[in-house]
Amino acid sequence: MSQELTLQQRLEALAGPDPLRRAVNEAVAALAQASIEISDLTCRGALAGITGQARGRNTDGDVQKDLDVRADDIIRAALGRLPIAVLASEEMADLDILNANAPISVAFDPLDGSSNINTNMSVGTIFSIMPTPSDASAAFTQPGSAQLAAGFVVYGPQTSLVLTLGQGVDIFTLDRDSREYKLTGSTVQIPPNATEFAINASNRRHWDLPVRAYIDECLMGADGMGGKDFNMRWIGSLVAEAFRILIRGGIFLYPGDARHGYEEGRLRLVYEAHPMAFIIEQAGGGATTGRQRVLDLVPRTLHQRVPLIMGSIKNVQRLEHMHTAPDVALETNAPLFGHRGLFRV
Ligand code: F6P
Repeated sequence: MSQELTLQQRLEALAGPDPLRRAVNEAVAALAQASIEISDLTCRGALAGITGQARGRNTDGDVQKDLDVRADDIIRAALGRLPIAVLASEEMADLDILNANAPISVAFDPLDGSSNINTNMSVGTIFSIMPTPSDASAAFTQPGSAQLAAGFVVYGPQTSLVLTLGQGVDIFTLDRDSREYKLTGSTVQIPPNATEFAINASNRRHWDLPVRAYIDECLMGADGMGGKDFNMRWIGSLVAEAFRILIRGGIFLYPGDARHGYEEGRLRLVYEAHPMAFIIEQAGGGATTGRQRVLDLVPRTLHQRVPLIMGSIKNVQRLEHMHTAPDVALETNAPLFGHRGLFRV
């Protein structure tokens, strides 16, 4: 790994002469440029007029903050100059068809986790690049496995760009002096078995049995069936959780639950779950709804929500097992059957 390799150099090395790959590279480079501008704004915060004030609601009912709107404008301006067939953004109700004959289409969440912006927590941009089918309006009704590239940027203490072009995962760090992304991690591999979980535990009473059983097993730690102590983290910012998992493993869950409107979880398939699943799988991890691989899912609608469970492969497989083998979930959920429970002492 060379500390000096820039994103541009890395993209050129990976693309070769293939015109489709070159179109992907141009889009990635434009997204990276846009993210530097967004990073400048997040760093300056209130000094740049970023207050975290609500500006209304997006099409999905989420509160839009001032930076959501600005980040969306910045990304659309950067991508609008390129040969791109369709743009889809969390902030737009419908597809934006630009040039139906162009080879690629881009979906993005301009500012994920923006409810955190005025608390000075990490937020990010997520993107997914698809090949354009013959009917351009069907660009985002392809399975996640069709993605040509996916990435996300975390605006945290450092600004980091995570990228897959389907050949492993690279991490780039923004060098503020040269205003370029530099390669700081290549062929990232998620540890297969980890002892850290992330879930919004305030929703426990709404979860279904397999999720409750899995988390209870984590909480039982060394005294439970898993036999290992776990640590818990919940940042409430998908990009920050995904970055942590890439660095040190663990499992993240935003499952469906019994709350009205949360039957399919909270996260959106096209511009959150699909790109995250592509990245996590490329780094050797797993991404599932509990019952289905996320990359096999074909979106029915642009803003469709989906349960997302992702991270270290063994942890994800254990959770999938609880979904497909209800006896395991039942047994784990009954404290009497725990390692030190009544029937195991
Ligand atoms: O999709 C927006 C988002 O902020 C994600 O980044 C994060 O994982 C989730 O919502 C947090 O949800 P909750 O409000 O339930 O903690």
